[in-house]
Amino acid sequence: MKLEPTVAAEPGEELSDSAFLKIAAFMRERTGISLDRGSRRIVHSRLQRHVKRSGVGDFDKYIDLVTSGTSADEVQHAIGALTTNTTKFCREAEHFTIFENEVVPAIVQALRDGQRVRLWSAACSSGEEPYTLAASLVRAFPEAPRHDIRILATDIDQTVLQRARTAEYARPPSSLVSDELARIMFEDVPGSEDRVRVREPLRDLVTVRYLNFFDPWPVSGPFHTIFCRNAAIYMDSTAQAVLWAGLARVLHPEGMLFIGHSERLTPELNATFAQVGRNAYRPKSAGPAPRAAKHNDRSV
Ligand SMILES: C[S@@+](CC[C@H](N)C(=O)[O-])C[C@H]1O[C@@H](n2cnc3c(N)ncnc32)[C@H](O)[C@@H]1O
Repeated sequence: MKLEPTVAAEPGEELSDSAFLKIAAFMRERTGISLDRGSRRIVHSRLQRHVKRSGVGDFDKYIDLVTSGTSADEVQHAIGALTTNTTKFCREAEHFTIFENEVVPAIVQALRDGQRVRLWSAACSSGEEPYTLAASLVRAFPEAPRHDIRILATDIDQTVLQRARTAEYARPPSSLVSDELARIMFEDVPGSEDRVRVREPLRDLVTVRYLNFFDPWPVSGPFHTIFCRNAAIYMDSTAQAVLWAGLARVLHPEGMLFIGHSERLTPELNATFAQVGRNAYRPKSAGPAPRAAKHNDRSV
């Protein structure tokens, strides 16, 4: 592969061909994220401050430190810097309408039958997606917080996970979150005009955890809903296929999988799903029986 000339600022701040290839291979193996030559300048600018902060001296040494795995902290910093965390409340809003209309009735039935219900916001970034999901659930089924239902919210980036746990945000405009949904979702932050906090009953529905799709998953489902949106878009087709197949395995037979508007399932998997709306899928036939319900088990 022909690369651009070395991206240089000052001596010692250069990203050499070999360092770029090393970090790209590391990211592909550890996270599934594919960094092609077009992303080289972005890699340089996103890692620059970590090179300086770490005090190792130059890019080559920093990338050796990360890829050798000798510093778990630097691995986290580098992965955090090289992931794209863009998100917002009510993103790809029709998915939440489909969820309320097509999934919530089955969830209500399952809860009334004494089953536990688990939903998953996989690659949740700073939490806007799982809290929108929680608010949609409560709008459609206000008694939800009194039942055995939880939303697991996971991501690989510890910095955004901390923001998700804090659950405090700049007040979103009503063009993004309707006044009706905002009343369900937010309370004011004392002393601040422009910041809001997610209300406690919604926060309590959401469990925030670290999870890398390419490590063994400490979850087995079945999940009545999985939102996995706008993470696979940064991966190559092989990594995407592994991710989609993993999600399909933990999806409840009557559950629904939502993927990002610009993402695509593999043709093999696509054949096993019926499309319910834009990039919203249901398994065509019942798969393996869901794990027996454990009442009062609040774990995820
Ligand atoms: C663009 S955000 C999407 C957030 C949200 N799902 C949405 O659609 O608004 C992509 C997220 O995927 C996460 N991510 C990337 N690779 C991952 C991996 N291997 N395992 C878990 N999360 C990953 C990133 O840290 C980032 O927060």
